[in-house]
Amino acid sequence: MTASIHIAREVDLSALNTLGLPAIAEHYAEPASISELQAVLDEARSQQWPVVVLGGGSNVIPAPYIEGVVIRYSGADTRLEVEGDSALLHAAAGADWPTLVEATAEAGWWGIENLALIPGSAGAAPVQNIGAYGVEVGELIERVVYVDQADNSVNVLSASECGFGYRDSVFKNALSERAIIVEIVLRVSRHASARLNYADLAQRVAVPATPAAVAAAVSDIRRDKLPDPRQLANAGSFFKNPTVSEAKASALAADHPDMPRYPAADGVKLAAGWLIDRCGLKGVKRGHFGIHERQALVIVHFGDGSAQELSDFANSIAAQVADRFGIQLEQEPRRLGFSD
Ligand code: EPU
Repeated sequence: MTASIHIAREVDLSALNTLGLPAIAEHYAEPASISELQAVLDEARSQQWPVVVLGGGSNVIPAPYIEGVVIRYSGADTRLEVEGDSALLHAAAGADWPTLVEATAEAGWWGIENLALIPGSAGAAPVQNIGAYGVEVGELIERVVYVDQADNSVNVLSASECGFGYRDSVFKNALSERAIIVEIVLRVSRHASARLNYADLAQRVAVPATPAAVAAAVSDIRRDKLPDPRQLANAGSFFKNPTVSEAKASALAADHPDMPRYPAADGVKLAAGWLIDRCGLKGVKRGHFGIHERQALVIVHFGDGSAQELSDFANSIAAQVADRFGIQLEQEPRRLGFSD
């Protein structure tokens, strides 16, 4: 027997995306359990509605009108399964990520403290493999549980099956139209393992470090550089850091000796924020959008703008970077519910 669940019509999503873009969902549901989610999917299949999944809304650009049904999983239970010195941290997809990190770090568990204060839901974390200060969530993930939109089946993927890459996973690729994540399971540990490779971070953490102290330092750095979406609408980094060939990186470095570059598996990773900054764009304002004054990788929305205007603005930034450096930037936030 499946659960019944309320499906609302014509729901305003402008407060459910941190870019604050105007958006209406034709239908909208917030299932709190797997059986409620399956009930929504049954209805979507019988009505032939396209399904669009929304998490914390902190990395998305919604279409002005989203046809079909927008599903935001609201189950948010968390539990720790202690196994000696390590533990499995189970978080339902609707759990708030920054709250989860803070509670885990405060309780003395190491693992996710470098990912403090990243806005969003636990279920969205593996989708783009959130990362900051030398850690990506994929390194901590043991498994991800999802419901398949096609047949309501509940499936479990191991970390290696999740295909994690830089801001990438199977959930953005082969499973993008199918998987609705309902739970993530992370491995955390009592063993001290502070990852302080970032100079900024190392400077702010007293030794011996605790997970709570690292989380607090990461939060401080983020507050310094990144706008709080509750005060100034944004979706964090708007572009991915591009990877270029060794030859390209060396040629650029010859002209720009101060250009940050980091070794990557398939070449050299450059800092998109630096490239945009060097085009003189930090702090620019155009219409209802602008580039943040303290981090050129972040586009901010001052209100009353549209997804189209944002897209035009982002394209103009990418075009200036391409002109100046010959590098094509790739957008990070995902477009939701557009028909193209
Ligand atoms: N830089 C500039 N000007 C700027 C911004 C950056 O010159 O306006 C330079 C910095 O001085 C630094 C380099 O670029 O040398 C890298 O900057 P930063 O350390 O601030 O990190 P990032 O590469 O711009 C990435 C992630 C962030 C994450 C930080 C910290 C991406 C797309 N972004 O930013 O993630 O918090 O590293 O690890 O990988 C997000 O994805 O939304 C996000 C905020």
